[in-house]
Amino acid sequence: MTVTVERPASRVALITLNRPQALNALNLETMRELTTAAAELDRSAEVGAIVLTGSDRAFAAGADIKEMASRTFSEMHAEDWFAGWDALTRVRTPLIAAVAGHALGGGCELAMMCDLLLAAESARFGQPEITLGVIPGMGGSQRLTRAIGKAKAMDLILTGRTMRADEAERCGLVSRVVPNEQLRAEAIEVAAKIASMSLVAARTAKEAVNRSFESSLAEGVLFERRVFHALFATEDQKEGMAAFTEKRKPDFRHC
Ligand code: HXC
Repeated sequence: MTVTVERPASRVALITLNRPQALNALNLETMRELTTAAAELDRSAEVGAIVLTGSDRAFAAGADIKEMASRTFSEMHAEDWFAGWDALTRVRTPLIAAVAGHALGGGCELAMMCDLLLAAESARFGQPEITLGVIPGMGGSQRLTRAIGKAKAMDLILTGRTMRADEAERCGLVSRVVPNEQLRAEAIEVAAKIASMSLVAARTAKEAVNRSFESSLAEGVLFERRVFHALFATEDQKEGMAAFTEKRKPDFRHC
């Protein structure tokens, strides 16, 4: 297996990329295993947040160059190479990328498919595809531009340079930077916090934020208001508001 799945805390799942000999380069096998694992966890009401991580040395050093190198245009087009990664964006449970070391090319793009990005001080982000004679192919030109703006995205994508964790945080790619040895614990803590909320509310919040990338402001605000109304049909809304009034902790049932 090129990924492992653990349950390090209540309602939290941890998926770890595990191809150390290739710095977690993403091949077809990894794509299948990772998207299958994430979809399975997403179907479980027992999982409220999923952490995705790699090793200390590499989150992922890109798509597997050796696997792609000899492919022709016809093959890439016929197989719609990389389209399988879209499955990850259909995961409704909050996804947290915990990045240490290299997050390059497809590695950076994979991290950007997650909802929250935590970085160790060792993290290095980049889209070096231009140095291979190609361009990002797993959403980098779109998600990086939306995340950090045209100026920085063009800088990274056209020069292929890498960006340190502090720069990634300054330009808004990363939510938090933590000392290397704290990354895993911090990611699990953030995941546990999210997983302690109403799952239906957390999934709805994720859906609403993601809608902002796909719609006009007026449509997005209307979508938000409608799903906000819909949450009043949940038990968790009744419990959350009752708990506030009664000055106690809510006991969410995730429905
Ligand atoms: C396949 C890879 C790989 C990759 C590293 N390896 N990255 N194999 N695909 N993307 C392999 C190396 O070949 C090597 O295997 C082993 O991992 C260790 O890597 P080293 O290069 O020896 O390590 P180091 O000197 O520490 O350098 C680390 C690195 C470098 C700076 C991250 O490996 C590197 O530049 N990798 C490629 C990064 C990249 O260009 N990524 C974008 C890929 S394209 P052996 O067997 O030799 O020991 C992409 C998007 C696709 O992601 C979009 C369309 C193309």
